[in-house]
Amino acid sequence: MSSQSAPYAATLPRSSALDQVARVEPAMAGVKNAAVFEEARRMVDGSAHVPLLPAYLQQTYWWAYLHPNAVWVFERQWLVNLILWGNFAELRDAALAEMGETIDGTVLQVACVYGDFTERLAQRLTPNGRLDVVDVAPVQLENLKTKLNGAAQIVVYHQDSTDLRFVDASYDCVVVFFLLHEQPEATRIQTIAQALRVVKPGGKVVFVDYHRPDAINPFRYVMVPIFKSLEPFAMDLWNKEIADWLPTSVRLASIDKQTFFGGLYQKVVMIR
Ligand SMILES: C[S@@+](CC[C@H](N)C(=O)[O-])C[C@H]1O[C@@H](n2cnc3c(N)ncnc32)[C@H](O)[C@@H]1O
Repeated sequence: MSSQSAPYAATLPRSSALDQVARVEPAMAGVKNAAVFEEARRMVDGSAHVPLLPAYLQQTYWWAYLHPNAVWVFERQWLVNLILWGNFAELRDAALAEMGETIDGTVLQVACVYGDFTERLAQRLTPNGRLDVVDVAPVQLENLKTKLNGAAQIVVYHQDSTDLRFVDASYDCVVVFFLLHEQPEATRIQTIAQALRVVKPGGKVVFVDYHRPDAINPFRYVMVPIFKSLEPFAMDLWNKEIADWLPTSVRLASIDKQTFFGGLYQKVVMIR
């Protein structure tokens, strides 16, 4: 497998890239969106920054996200729900509840998600709301575009979560759904730092991910061989709190954790 990803701009029809610029351009009134606009413009003129596929994605998760058949296999609501032991809807809705029944502001979703997470998020956008989604794998962005079916107010970006190309404090909410457990610790630290960098003061960063199950939860034993064979970095989320990976320079207004399914899953909400 190639160690470089194909430029997403090359796979994006020119008219689609222009649509993206057109959607972003009205926001130019706010200087904060200048970097977003620039990124869309560079997609059109071909000078967009193109991230490389991270090694962990190629070596550990190629079968889930990069293989040509991955989307065909995994893009099934019942399957993503099964992988989360029937908890997908509850966890999705717990994350979305943090944004409110209607979303007027700007939301950044860091990494695509199989299933209807993004569609449900998009349904909450008011005419003033905007959703940006980044992913490092072009095949995942293409899949998301087919799910969103050209929905207005949503722009997808080929970016790495460790190197977001948006200016500081540009989003009201940033959501990171089951990405952290897939990343090696050093990468995870950068993802968390970037999420906190791009959220506005008073804005929310919402993480949903694995967590150490309670002592009497049988999944404490069921999950160990699964993680050992398929998800080697996931046990980190059992051994540390997400707050342990915060940059030392960051001051948060609040941090709140809620667990689900006997502790196997967590939602952590940080307010800047
Ligand atoms: C959010 S995670 C897993 C979510 C969940 N397990 C699901 O059902 O899809 C999977 C996504 O993260 C993306 N991803 C992994 N590492 C990334 C990175 N460094 N930057 C951006 N996206 C990344 C993958 O390409 C994939 O689309």
